[in-house]
Amino acid sequence: MRAEFDDSLVTGNEMIDSQHKELIDKINGLLESCELGKDKIAAVKTLEYLADYTDFHFGEEEKLQEEIDYPGIKEHKEEHKKLIKVVEELHEMLEEEEGPTDAFVAQVNENVIQWLYRHIKGFDRSVAEYKNMRGNSEML
Ligand SMILES: [Fe+2]
Repeated sequence: MRAEFDDSLVTGNEMIDSQHKELIDKINGLLESCELGKDKIAAVKTLEYLADYTDFHFGEEEKLQEEIDYPGIKEHKEEHKKLIKVVEELHEMLEEEEGPTDAFVAQVNENVIQWLYRHIKGFDRSVAEYKNMRGNSEML
């Protein structure tokens, strides 16, 4: 299985959308390394790329929310922390094993991909909508 950026994930904010595409590429990079050879070192490396990009992307999203005085920023930051924790747990899981197992891949699917889809469709879309709304009212 691969993660896929489709129209249902578009928020309408160019920065957020392009970073989500990159994030999905990083997730797929991890899944690929889990399938090809099931090599532990490669899996750890691609998971670290994903962790780094997740930190960067969440930082950018949170900065944007501060700039527009987004009222839901506190809850949104809490949600971001959940994924960061999941990625840390995946890291521990991988370190304890000889290489990526089916259970590891199943967790990536459920706790990263499905989480991200839900997060984008709810939390991130609200940010983009709020920004648009504010932008429009400022033009009046
Ligand atoms: Fe977000």
